[in-house]
Amino acid sequence: MDARDRLRRYLEQRRDMGETEMLLDSMTVDDVMRAIGAIDTGPRGSTSSDAEASSDWREALWEDRPADDGLEAPADSGELFDDDVMRLNSLKTIENAVAKCTRCRLYKTATNPVPGEGSPKSRLVCVGEAPGANEDATGRPFVGPAGNLLTKILAAVDLRREDVFICNVLKHRPPGNRNPLADEVLACSPYLVRQLELIKPKVIVAFGTFAAQTLLDTKTPIGKLRGLVHQYHGIPLVVTYHPAALLRNPAWKRPTWEDVKLARRILDSPPGA
Ligand code: URA
Repeated sequence: MDARDRLRRYLEQRRDMGETEMLLDSMTVDDVMRAIGAIDTGPRGSTSSDAEASSDWREALWEDRPADDGLEAPADSGELFDDDVMRLNSLKTIENAVAKCTRCRLYKTATNPVPGEGSPKSRLVCVGEAPGANEDATGRPFVGPAGNLLTKILAAVDLRREDVFICNVLKHRPPGNRNPLADEVLACSPYLVRQLELIKPKVIVAFGTFAAQTLLDTKTPIGKLRGLVHQYHGIPLVVTYHPAALLRNPAWKRPTWEDVKLARRILDSPPGA
């Protein structure tokens, strides 16, 4: 067995034990495996184990939209702040605005709007991607299988759902749970931006690629965003895997546990620390 095979075997063992990171110039195990040719990168350069990380919705930004959709590409994300939604002055008025929202096509196919729920005084805000079937049926965020796991994740760091505010980037369900389209994210983002501005939590946790890339305005894959403390307009933001991804990839439970412990430490830190 040559050095390459030994390294591959060693990395495979580490990965099978749930490790995704190694201290090697910020490279993940999969990066190294790919670099040594031990992972088939497939036609689009992705592997099944980083499927979530590679689903970069921003690649589609504006490029795939119908020419006659009536929306204009913004010059930059600063346009978000020049929006009527930014003048809504309570979570309740945002909820009412979301209930009447026709900014994108999704209200036509959704059963209920899902604006988010929790106290305006919440010190931690959880942000997911978009409502699924259960959320669409009830009008409440994270109430299906992924939501049950989110409740357990919060309980693991001694938080009840009623202690936090839970919401999504999109406030209406994309039909068939398809990925949010770029213009839908752009149309809906002001609600999330304003919710965060009104709540001013001590920490934000972005669950999954969409929430993380939207809030951080980046294309960086989730594997490189998690494990760090980012800033969202001065508010610490922790990125972790989406609970639905954890249901498919139990090996991600351990890094998720580390991420929520990090958020808990920020919550428990003294003011100004
Ligand atoms: N997935 C999400 O991102 N949000 C929900 O509310 C439910 C599932």
